[in-house]
This record gives sequence, C-alpha cells and structure tokens, in this order.
Amino acid sequence: MSIDLDRSDNDAVAGLPGYREDATLLEVDDLRVEFHTRDGVARAVNGVNLRLAAGQTVAVVGESGSGKSVTAQAIMGILEEPPARVAGGEIRYRGVDLLKLSADQRRRIRANHIAMVFQDALSALNPVWTVGFQLSELFRTHRGMSRKDAKKRSIELLDMVRIPAAAQRVNEYPHQFSGGMRQRVMIAMALALDPKVLIADEPTTALDVTVQAQIMRLLAEIQAERHMGMILITHDLGVVADVADDITVMYAGRAVEQAGVGDTFATPAHPYTKALLRSIPRLDVKGQQLEVIAGLPPTLTDIPPGCAFAPRCTYAKDICRTEQPPLRTVADGRASACHFAKEVMTDV
Ligand SMILES: Nc1ncnc2c1ncn2[C@@H]1O[C@H](COP(=O)(O)OP(=O)(O)OP(=O)(O)O)[C@@H](O)[C@H]1O
Ligand code: SF4
Ligand SMILES: [Mg+2]
Repeated sequence: MSIDLDRSDNDAVAGLPGYREDATLLEVDDLRVEFHTRDGVARAVNGVNLRLAAGQTVAVVGESGSGKSVTAQAIMGILEEPPARVAGGEIRYRGVDLLKLSADQRRRIRANHIAMVFQDALSALNPVWTVGFQLSELFRTHRGMSRKDAKKRSIELLDMVRIPAAAQRVNEYPHQFSGGMRQRVMIAMALALDPKVLIADEPTTALDVTVQAQIMRLLAEIQAERHMGMILITHDLGVVADVADDITVMYAGRAVEQAGVGDTFATPAHPYTKALLRSIPRLDVKGQQLEVIAGLPPTLTDIPPGCAFAPRCTYAKDICRTEQPPLRTVADGRASACHFAKEVMTDV
C-alpha cells in the first residue's frame, strides 16, 4: 500500500546540514552512551558502529544488558537524558548527524524517517483512546488530514498489517486486542508515516511461538515491500537466520562482530559469537548438550582494561588483558574485535 503524503515533514530533512540523497541510510560511528548512577558512571554503550542500507535487515544480538536497547533509543532520540548522556560518536541518517539536531528537528525525523516497534505494545499504546483515534492523530498532526480521511487511512493500515475486520476494529481500544493483534497495531503505528528505517526491539518476545512467527513474517514482508532498512534486535538466532542479511553481535556495549549472517553462522570470527551459537539448540544435531557461557559480563561501572570478554574467553592470552581489540576487517565484509579473529575463524 502506498500512502500519499503531504511531504512537509519529509522534506524538512533534505535541507539539513550533511544531507545527501545517496548517502548510506543509517550510519552509527563510535557511539557512546553512559548513565550517571549512584554507583558511578555505567558505560552502557562503548563505541558501537553500525551500517544500514535501504532494503537491508541487520540483526543485533547479545546477552541481556549488552546495550542493544540503549543503542536503539539513542538512534531514535528517546533516551532519558539525564540519567543517560550521549558521551560521543555520530549517528548519521542520509549523511545528517542526528546528534547535532535540535529537539524539534529530531522529533520530525522520528516517525517520519526512523520509527520503532517496541516489545510491549500494551504499554506503548494509550489505553484510553481507540486504536483508530491513535492512528488518526498521526495523520492529522503530521499530515494535516481531515478526520474522515485520517480514519480511512487508519483502516487501510490495519488492513495492511492483516487485522481482520479492520473497519470495525478501528473503533476498539488496545485491551480489546489479543497480544499478537496488538503488536500488529503497533507495527501499523510505526509504519504510518512511511519511515525509511524501522527499528524493532524484540518485537515478538512477549508472544507465543506461532504468533511470533506470523509477526516476524509480516515484518519481513513489509520491510521488503517498502525497501526499508530494518534493525532487528532479537535473542532468537533462528529468526536471525530467517530474516536478517547482516548481524551485529554486541558484548558489554560494543559491537564485537559484524558480517553476513551466513558467514557468521558458518565460521564465527569472535569467541563470544562462537559461544552464543553453541548455546542454542540446533535442529540438525541430535542429543546435543547446550553450552552455557561460563562467567558473567563485566559490571558496566567498572569495565576492565583490554578485551571485556577476556575473563570468559577460552582463547584469551596476555595481550587480551591489556589491549582493547578494535573492531577491524578480518575478511571481505567481515569485522571482528578480537586479537585472534583469524585463528578463531579457522578453529572449527
Ligand atoms: N535508565 C537507566 N539507568 C541506569 N542504567 C541503565 C538505564 N537503562 C539502561 N541502563 C544500563 O544500560 C545497560 C544496557 O541496557 P540495554 O537495555 O541496552 O540492554 P539490552 O542489551 O537491551 O538487554 P536486554 O536483552 O535485556 O533487553 C544495562 O545493563 C544497564 O546497566
Ligand atoms: S581479544 Fe582475546 S579475550 Fe577478547 S575475544 Fe579475542 S581472544 Fe578472547
Ligand atoms: Mg533490550
């Protein structure tokens, strides 16, 4: 479905400093985000790099607390500052450094260009308004549509996310929808203003397995149809294999491996990725014992020098405890932040 837009919000970006139509859709360079807490400064994101092209899906994976959601919130411009503080780096959308924009300019980019689907639709939707009203408000505020046109568009959107009987359900409240249907409503809201980048932060975790698969299929279809760039944050490596082109593995607030999904699964170039892959069941191996990654991630207020994974790494040598390995190219289209990436890749 295409949406006729009043382009005013969209055109706003073209006049911003650095804008280039042909620039990479989204680039994150050396992003750093810290939280000022009673226990000290928690370095939640410590130099993350990401690249996302139009039509591409990049999966972001990593243990709980590795900085996936904070990275997403920084890209969206929805970090609560304070306690959060963006301590460094750049986030460029079509060449425009978002971190240099005013709050109003960022608000226009949000929803119109970069939108997000959260894990918990119930808390993201307003319980006191009907779904149709919440969708219509987007069209009325951002596109200046009449009430009637906005409602018509809302029904079309609910249809697009395959909510049956959309014309009736548009008048219902969020609590009247099942978990899966509510997540579809949230996807409809995120897509309403035709964003070019969609960030989905564990969009299916709260749902049962069959519904998860349906929602993932829907997201993947819409992403392909609209040629959007999608950042998919997930714990589910099966989903990664199904829908993502590239993968970014995060550990202690850093990207430690980036590559095509096929390469990463076949020959991981970082010991942490290797351990993650070993910790999931494989359908093709019978009687396999799951490996648990021994040890814990570092405390973010006290990240040790050198490689943050060293205390848990079976490949660690002396240099790992003193020198932080930069994320660097280790093969065509593959990057790893490990001093011994080449050995890790060939050690199967
Ligand atoms: N409001 C906050 N105040 C203090 N620290 C925070 C806050 N929000 C996040 N953090 C810190 O940032 C770290 C990274 O959090 P983040 O939510 O990005 O993890 P995640 O990778 O998304 O984990 P999960 O898989 O559990 O969603 C957390 O471990 C926490 O220490
Ligand atoms: S740099 Fe050293 S400690 Fe870190 S992952 Fe590589 S081998 Fe392990
Ligand atoms: Mg998270």
